[in-house]
Formats: sequence, structure tokens, C-alpha cells
Amino acid sequence: MFIRELSVLNYKNFGEVTFSFSKKLNCFIGNNGVGKTNLLDAIYYLSFCKSYFNNPDSQNIHHSEDFFALQGKYALKGVVEEIHCGYKNGQKKKIRRNKKEYERFSDHIGLLPLVMISPADSVLIQGGSEERRRFMDSVISQYDRTYLDWLVRYNRVLLQRNILLKNYANQPAIDPDIFAIWDEQLVQLGQKIHSKRDSFLQELLPVFQKYYTLISGGNEVVSLEYGSQLNEGDFAVQLKDSFAKDRIVQFTTTGVHKDDLELKLDGYPIKRLGSQGQNKTYLIALKFAQFDFIRSLNGIKPILLLDDIFDKLDGERVEEIVKLVSDDHFGQIFITDTNREHLDGILREAGGDDFRIFIVDKGSISNIIEKQ
Ligand SMILES: Nc1ncnc2c1ncn2[C@@H]1O[C@H](COP(=O)(O)OP(=O)(O)OP(=O)(O)O)[C@@H](O)[C@H]1O
Ligand SMILES: [Mg+2]
Repeated sequence: MFIRELSVLNYKNFGEVTFSFSKKLNCFIGNNGVGKTNLLDAIYYLSFCKSYFNNPDSQNIHHSEDFFALQGKYALKGVVEEIHCGYKNGQKKKIRRNKKEYERFSDHIGLLPLVMISPADSVLIQGGSEERRRFMDSVISQYDRTYLDWLVRYNRVLLQRNILLKNYANQPAIDPDIFAIWDEQLVQLGQKIHSKRDSFLQELLPVFQKYYTLISGGNEVVSLEYGSQLNEGDFAVQLKDSFAKDRIVQFTTTGVHKDDLELKLDGYPIKRLGSQGQNKTYLIALKFAQFDFIRSLNGIKPILLLDDIFDKLDGERVEEIVKLVSDDHFGQIFITDTNREHLDGILREAGGDDFRIFIVDKGSISNIIEKQ
């Protein structure tokens, strides 16, 4: 699967521009702030109906306009797929597949698998547990629609239970039956979510470790453990046991909404001791493992977006990544960089001539020169 053509209109700092891509390697080269990441984001948008950076759609529109439109032409299993995403201020966002509008955006997610590696991923290590839950959830829900449905229902039940806890806060005694109906649903959904996350991570771990070892040269040991209260015992019992505490704090303190991932380097939390290059290696290995995982589901190679991937890495690690991405294991790749140095390394390694380089220049779109 690959994107053959992209048309961008009024997306972030771009006016109107169209691209014709290589099905293997595409590079956006240019100085800081010219819009390289924005172009990757436009490609991401066409797969996920939203920006990678989770900003409201109004912020994705070029400052001087009131709408944006993106169009991608893909080759998927030998068939051309035309995807259109458009948003106008004050109106509902529209996503069309072959001119037919989707009723639910979730029906589109997963059609065009894609993995993005970006400097912004550092929040996975540095941010709160919700970032790591979002990582698990976004990968699993790309291939499992029911999972997304369980999550939505779990969060709805959780909200209701928390509202009840607040409403009954000042009452000395509560009839436990009032909570029973919510607890039952929370347990049922929570256990399903827990078991999905657990099996996903068990599959991901060895692949992640393999990639980390490859890139780092094998001098460091990394691990990734699923931290969940549900690992410790029966969720229904835990929920009952924590009821008195929940009453005091007025929210539900037990459940999969408290899950986390313990990211470790040589046995210690990477958040505290990882160097910048080690953190970056950790995230790249994690995303490569995500790539393999999604690829293994239906054999389709996801599009790989590599934003500033070589920054902060030493020469040896860069060389290993260059070797990795030059391999046929990966499908279509987009790389951004401020100069051609790394790119030339990849081109030497891969040896093929199936690539395109786009020199991105700030300001008007006509300054984008395509070279082959
Ligand atoms: N809605 C918008 N309208 C106009 N310009 C925007 C909008 N959103 C972002 N920009 C501009 O896009 C530019 C940043 O683009 P981007 O992050 O893609 O740069 P980059 O080429 O990846 O740079 P770097 O090499 O530093 O990563 C900024 O100058 C910013 O002002
Ligand atoms: Mg950038």
C-alpha cells in the first residue's frame, strides 16, 4: 500500500501544492520551520482523520484562510483509493473515500495503516500515564474495532460511577445496590480491555527488544512492563475493597483507567536515567515494533513517516537505522531532514533508484522543487 499523489490546500503553512510520490522512499529536505513536519502531518491526517499533534482543526487551516482540504490517491491491494479530508471553520469535518462520505470516521481508521515517528513522541517517556495508555489504545484500535467500542463504554460507565460518588458524597450511608449495576459493567469491560492490552504488549515486547538491540549495538537492555492493578487480583474484589476510599476521594481509584507502561533501561525507569539518544532509540524501537505488529495483522506494510529521526543519535546508531529502513521489510517511507547527508547514506545502502527528494522552502508553494 502506498500514497501515489497528495494535494494540499491551505493546510498549516501551505497554500496549494501537489506531490507525486515514489512508492519506496520520499524525502522532504529544508531548513527549520519550512513545513516538513506539516507535510508528514497532512499524510497522517489522511489515515487518521486528524492531525498527529491533536490540535483542533481550526488550527490546521492556513492563518489567512477559512478552510483546508487534503486529497490522497493510494494504491491499495491493486486498487486506487481516493481519500478526501476537508474542514471549513464552523462546519463539520468531511471525510470521503472514492467520493462517498463516511458517516463515522472510525470506519476509515485502519484502512491506510501508517506509523509516524516524531520528536513529539518523547511525551511517551516524559509525560503522564495517559500518554502511554493512548499509545496502547491507538495501536490496538487501529485493528480492533470492538476494542474502541469497549473503551468508549468503559469511560462512559466510569463517568457515571464518578458522578454517583460525588452525588452521594455527603450521605452517611449508601445502598450498595446503587453502585452494583455500574460496577458490574466496569468489571466486565475493564477485564476485556486488560486482556487485550496484555496480549498486545506480550507480542510487542520481543520485537521491541530486538529493534533496540539492533540499533544500540546490544550494550543496553530495555524492557516494557504492563502496569495494571488488574494484574494484582480480581477486579470485582478490588473495586469493592476500594469503595470506602473512592467515597472519600469521590472518584474511582481502581481500574484500567489507571494502567501504565513501565519503560525501563537496564532495569531502571528510563524517564529518570535515559540520555537523549537512549530515549530516542527507545521510542524508535517501540515504533518499529508497532510497525511489525500492524504489518503482521494483514500483511500490508504501513506507510512509515520518519520525522527528524536522526537527530540526537550517534553515527553508529544512525548507520543501523539507515540499514534497517533500507531493507525491503519496510514499504513506503517518508523522511524529513535539514540536509541530505543521512539521506545519501540511505540511498547508497538501498542502492535502488526508486526515490524522490523534495526541497521544501519557506513561503510560497512554487518554491518546492521536485528532484529525481
Ligand atoms: N495554521 C497555520 N497557518 C500558517 N502557518 C502555520 C500554521 N500552522 C503552523 N504554521 C507554520 O508552520 C511552520 C512549522 O512548520 P514545520 O513544523 O512543518 O517545520 P519543519 O520544516 O518541520 O521545521 P523543523 O526542521 O524545525 O522541524 C511554522 O513556521 C509555523 O508558523
Ligand atoms: Mg519538523
